[in-house]
Order: sequence, then structure tokens, then C-alpha cells
Amino acid sequence: VFEACIFDLDGVIVDTAVYHFKAWKRLANELGFNFTEAQNEKLKGISRVKSLELILEWGGIEKTAEEQQVLATRKNDWYVEMINHMTPEEILPGTKELLESLRAAGIRTALGSASKNATVILEKVGILPLFEVLVDGNTVTASKPDPEVFLKGAEALQISPEKCIVFEDAIAGVQAAQAANMKVVGLGEQDVLGAADLVVSSLEQINMQTLTNLYSK
Ligand code: BG6
Ligand code: MG
Repeated sequence: VFEACIFDLDGVIVDTAVYHFKAWKRLANELGFNFTEAQNEKLKGISRVKSLELILEWGGIEKTAEEQQVLATRKNDWYVEMINHMTPEEILPGTKELLESLRAAGIRTALGSASKNATVILEKVGILPLFEVLVDGNTVTASKPDPEVFLKGAEALQISPEKCIVFEDAIAGVQAAQAANMKVVGLGEQDVLGAADLVVSSLEQINMQTLTNLYSK
């Protein structure tokens, strides 16, 4: 049977994409170009530095490495200002219930996120204690679709990768989980995340039984 679940953060546990969007849009507008929701979609699961590179490319603007550092920090300051106001009401439906039932069943839990702001977000929404292990943008060197983030999670839990189930909303994250040799549940649209072992629109659709069935497939 499976022994651990590893959760992505943004788009799985909380909907922070809207805050990322506001902060990136403000930066793009200051630089003199627009930034759309469709472009924001493409940044799901992508690191802060890589996101900025893409945005500058879309805006047709070149910046030195030092300038990029300043811009990324400016965006992050706005983002942090917004996430500091997050409340437990912002946890996506079904998340807390699932984490609690996993704990009751003795299934281990880890976070596997590209974000460097993961700890503060989990604190703000009040579910930090439900994770045994946090692997985030501060610990990881290779971005999803590289499996590093999930492999480090399994390693820290001392569970073999084949016994882990990952929850992901980004294509790059689904690919990372598969590269790590883990089962993966996609959160979102079937046409986008069809490569996942199971696609649902919400964690409300997941319980111990769905996971047991998925694992024995
Ligand atoms: C991912 C998000 O979880 O974290 C990306 O999906 C984001 O949109 C990335 O760029 C890095 O986040 P942060 O908080 O370190 O800027
Ligand atoms: Mg995500």
C-alpha cells in the first residue's frame, strides 16, 4: 500500500496564483507592458527567477542579472505583503479533511513546492503542523519537471518513491512526479493534466479509498 503523500502548494492547497498574477502584472506595467491571465497560467510551477525571465521575454525587454535580481525582489515584496493577509478560509476545499484523514491512517505527509514562501503560507492558513516534511524553493536546485523536489521529500520521510502519491496542478509538476516514479493526482482539467494517474477538480473528491484504489491500479 502507499505510505506517503506529497503535496504541491500553489494551486493545490491554496489559490495563490491570483496574488502572483497581481504582483507580476504590477511589475510588468511598471516596465511599460501588459501581463495577461493566460501568461500567468504558463508560470504555474515555474520558479520566481525563471518566471521573470519569461515575463521579460514576453515584454521584449532585456535586463542584466543584477537588474533581474532587483525586479524579482520587488515582485516578491508585493507578493509577501499580500500573502501576509491570508487566512485559514483560503485553504482550498477538502485539503484539511484529507490531511487529517491521512494522518489518522498513518500515511506520511510532505510538501513539495517551488515556492520560497511556502512556510509562511502554511502558517497563515494554519496547516503547517499537518506536514512532517517541507521541501520548497529554498531547498531545491532543479525546477520541476526535474524530480528533485519530490525525491527529496521521499528521502526526508524515508519512504521509497514508489510508495508516494503526489498532488499537482501544473503539467511540469505531473512530469516531475512521474520522473520520480511516483503516482500522481492532477488537480485541474483532464485535457491539461491527462498524463496524471487520476485527474480531479478538487481535493474534496479524494479520500483514503480513492487513493487505495489508485495505488493498486
Ligand atoms: C510555484 C508557483 O509554486 O512557486 C509559481 O506555481 C511560483 O507560480 C513559484 O513562481 C515560486 O514561488 P515564490 O513564492 O518563491 O516566488
Ligand atoms: Mg502548483
